Amino acid sequence: MLSKIHKKVIVTGGPTREFIDPVRFISNPSTGKMGAAIASSASKYFDEVVFIHGPISEQLIDKENYKSISIINTEDMLTQVMNELADNTILIMAAAPADFVPKKSEKYKIKKSSCDELVLHLKKSPDILSKVNQKIVDEQYSNCFVVGFAAETNDIEENAISKLKEKNLDMICVNNVSEPDCGFASDTNKIIIFSKDNFKINLNLADKKVIADEIVNLIIKSINNETIPE
Ligand code: CTP
Repeated sequence: MLSKIHKKVIVTGGPTREFIDPVRFISNPSTGKMGAAIASSASKYFDEVVFIHGPISEQLIDKENYKSISIINTEDMLTQVMNELADNTILIMAAAPADFVPKKSEKYKIKKSSCDELVLHLKKSPDILSKVNQKIVDEQYSNCFVVGFAAETNDIEENAISKLKEKNLDMICVNNVSEPDCGFASDTNKIIIFSKDNFKINLNLADKKVIADEIVNLIIKSINNETIPE
């Protein structure tokens, strides 16, 4: 058995839930399958893996092989990512945190009889990757590697490349969630990866576990400064 790489890997996965009142929330169709597959794959190669996930099936979580932290909303995911982030960390943000959250979460259930229409006021949630960038600068971390995901429906490549730059990522994995057998609840995925070093790699439609292994292997090659054939 080869010895594992001495680096911490943080993987996020799944949706978040943003409660309107105690019985209603805003969320999205993410199931956490991609994040869970990446966490399992990373645990084969790295000696410390932390999987920070929203509400997902317990069966996806491989508690024997990595530490898992369960969160509910975007604010909690931000707190946990910040707690775990240190220098020499690889962060893989496969989660789909909510972008907009209710301005106010009611303490008691909103009764149907109390109104004919319900107007929700939403505010932007914190962007976790922006806060991560800020911490990397503030703490002068010199050896972090940050991977983002992008779920797109149109202008796939343009949107991915802008996110790579705007979010100051080392790598971005983009998928077209409107294609069949790709994205959210599917067992398979098809991804294009763009890197800061200008490589572009197409990962053909495959099981999310196979895609996860390919992503982790590309990250290993990148941190080892190996040439990546396109
Ligand atoms: N992300 C984040 N914090 C959020 C929302 C998203 O860090 N509050 C991360 C995701 O985990 C992903 C990346 O940002 O790695 C891109 O997410 P995506 O939803 O594709 O893009 P957004 O930045 O949210 O922009 P838009 O929804 O306008 O495409």
